[in-house]
Amino acid sequence: MRTQVGIVGAGPAGLLLSHLLHLRGIESVVLEIRSRAEIESTIRAGVLEQGTVDLLAQVGLGERMKREGAVHRGIALRFGGRTHRIDLHELTCGKCITLYAQHEVLKDLIKARLEAGGQVLFDVADVSVHDTFGKAPKIRFREGGEGGKGGEPRELSCDFVAGCDGFHGICRSALPDSVRREYPRIYPFGWFGILTRAPRSTPELIYAHHDRGFALVSTRSPEIQRLYFQCDPNDDVANWPDERIWAELQARLAAEDGWKLHEGPILQKSIIAMRSFVIEPMQHGRLFLAGDAAHIVPPTGAKGMNLAIADVRVLAQGLEQYFASGSTALLDRYSEVCLRRVWRAQRFSRWMTEATHRFEGDPGVGAKLQLAELDYVTSSRAAATSLAENYVGLPLDGP
Ligand code: FAD
Ligand code: DHB
Repeated sequence: MRTQVGIVGAGPAGLLLSHLLHLRGIESVVLEIRSRAEIESTIRAGVLEQGTVDLLAQVGLGERMKREGAVHRGIALRFGGRTHRIDLHELTCGKCITLYAQHEVLKDLIKARLEAGGQVLFDVADVSVHDTFGKAPKIRFREGGEGGKGGEPRELSCDFVAGCDGFHGICRSALPDSVRREYPRIYPFGWFGILTRAPRSTPELIYAHHDRGFALVSTRSPEIQRLYFQCDPNDDVANWPDERIWAELQARLAAEDGWKLHEGPILQKSIIAMRSFVIEPMQHGRLFLAGDAAHIVPPTGAKGMNLAIADVRVLAQGLEQYFASGSTALLDRYSEVCLRRVWRAQRFSRWMTEATHRFEGDPGVGAKLQLAELDYVTSSRAAATSLAENYVGLPLDGP
């Protein structure tokens, strides 16, 4: 088997890269260890930055997103029982965020790739990358059999490999120790996430600071709501019957004006670890890492999927230049261009996390400083503008 770009992973990074390359007349094959059904039903991100929405619309993926996604012009910060609105739209001269679930973006991408005759191989196994420092990289994998395992060994020869296989993927380890530097950080808390069938309790997202810990109200549709609260990362969802979850959320989200969260049946519960991670560089030879394979942010700033999309936009431009002219000028700068955005997103996500989460063992001064930070950001136009421009997404970098 041969293609121009071998892509490992059918998440937002891998599938969008394949789509962008197709639009430029470049062939790719996407290899994915999970099934299509699993990818299309895994609940993850929800917030799309303005630049992400504009890019998806530009490349023909905006139709359902525009119809079913919800445009939000502001968010709320709640602390000390009071709610303070950040007017994203006004503070950023007209930019907004769109609530549209990651698995819906993935459905749109998979449909577009398959309709265009693109090759996306689901359920493969034992994926490994080879010779990425030479001119003829290869990806070996198994196809067919039970979830790919025990299937036929296959080899894909390509000009470039895109490692879009997420944080737990295999591509990152192909970067030699001598060139890589990693910047890991694990937070001492996680997020407990639920999906509930209930009406919206609020027209815009609420990020809440509370003595008991952080809570977040988000949404998926007028009928389905997404809520999170800070928890022990080693806790077990079995310890959280529905009544306990609602009591915790109501306590953390309590407001002076008597506002209450609408409750409903809980459809899904999960605990998410919180970490940040960056690998530098994001490329070596003919291997390019994109998205969570290269960097992770804590979810508080809602940046992960948006960063993955920003990376592959830069990578597609570099590959287009190479296949059109043989020049590696843009590809050579891939890592440098992406890392600039990545570190700014790390800064913002860490700031949002540290301003809103409870830190165990804090003698009190930390919580006081958090309240001062939140007071400042909601009373100074300059500080609110800084939050708003980061939250809706910094401008996409050119080559
Ligand atoms: P992934 O989505 O992880 O995709 C990688 C793919 O590679 C997977 O399908 C995986 O099965 C496959 N794979 C792994 N190993 C192999 C292998 N060996 N061979 C082949 N395939 C392999 N981001 C936002 O922007 N906004 C938000 O609001 C937001 N909220 C979030 C909320 C939660 C609870 C979580 C967990 C994340 C959130 N994120 C958010 C982050 C976002 O979901 C990720 O950053 C995003 O999925 C990264 O996309 P990706 O394509 O890089 O990686
Ligand atoms: C959602 C996820 C986030 O990480 C966030 O900051 C806001 C909303 C969501 O899943 O809706």
